[in-house]
Amino acid sequence: MSDPTEISESDVQAVVDSALAAVSAATDSASLKKVRAEHLAEASPLARLNASLRDVPNDQKAAAGKLVGQARARVNQAFEAKEQEITVAENARRLAEEAVDVTAVPTRWQAGARHPLSLLQERVTDVFVGMGWEVAEGPELESEWFNFDALNFDEDHPARAMQDTFFVEPTNSHLVLRTHTSPVQLRALLGNDLPLYRIAPGRVYRTDELDATHTPVFHQIEGIAVDKGLTMAHLRGTLDHFVQAMFGDGAKVRLRPNYFPFTEPSAELDLWHPTFKEGPRWIEWGGCGMVNPNVLRSAGIDPDEYTGFAFGVGVERALMFRNDVQDMRDMVEGDVRFSQQFGMVV
Ligand code: PHE
Repeated sequence: MSDPTEISESDVQAVVDSALAAVSAATDSASLKKVRAEHLAEASPLARLNASLRDVPNDQKAAAGKLVGQARARVNQAFEAKEQEITVAENARRLAEEAVDVTAVPTRWQAGARHPLSLLQERVTDVFVGMGWEVAEGPELESEWFNFDALNFDEDHPARAMQDTFFVEPTNSHLVLRTHTSPVQLRALLGNDLPLYRIAPGRVYRTDELDATHTPVFHQIEGIAVDKGLTMAHLRGTLDHFVQAMFGDGAKVRLRPNYFPFTEPSAELDLWHPTFKEGPRWIEWGGCGMVNPNVLRSAGIDPDEYTGFAFGVGVERALMFRNDVQDMRDMVEGDVRFSQQFGMVV
């Protein structure tokens, strides 16, 4: 049996005061949780007071019970009010923090654009791939032998100077930045079984100043076909099909006699452009001809058994007269807005 206990009003008041002080000092749900543990839960002074009621002498039980009951009610009420206040405040803060401004301007990833030269090059390549041709490549840093000698340019042939060449130091390396895609003709012939039909788009270099109609770095598309019995008529038919695919049914080509060391006969390749902006007309586009027997020989091919034709056209020039680009400098400056005008297809 425990000793009879007295519960004084001042004891109760002290417990209540300290509980109310703790409640009012709480600032968030974490501190409020601590208050509950220390001032309301089991083993808190208030709970102990309540438990000690059973030891109060019977004649005092009713009064003490009322005292303690009121004390618990006050503390609980204060606690609940505080809990409500904190919940409201915390919800409001969370809503503010997680707010999404559906009217905000999005920071979007800016898509780039394919360069129209690449698109046009691919389009031309596709026309030939559609005829069963294969794509060939060669290096831009090319040996003088492939760029000139094997293409039948004499050591001091004026044609060698015709193309303003970037020679690469040391000069005895005999390397140049290729001045045309024609060395790919040779490379294709050397490594492959005949017959062959190849299309070779690529970058070429000449020592021109950059202006509206020249750029020292530009692109050509070379074609070469070597087979038994190929003639100028095959060259012409191929080119007609090619320009019709690129410029519509009304397009055709005209061949004017010319000279290239690596073709014989050689011709200037003119295009009849039926939808040219300023009216249909002939436009000079490139060179072509029958592969010179000397070139076939330098690749170990018997020119009595095989013949071939070749052609080369400029891609920048095509972009100018086909897609109405007035200034070549726009093609090299790398402003994405220029490329974006063309979309995904030229
Ligand atoms: N390579 C020549 C040039 O750049 C073009 C050409 C290619 C001519 C193929 C004939 C045959 O001017």
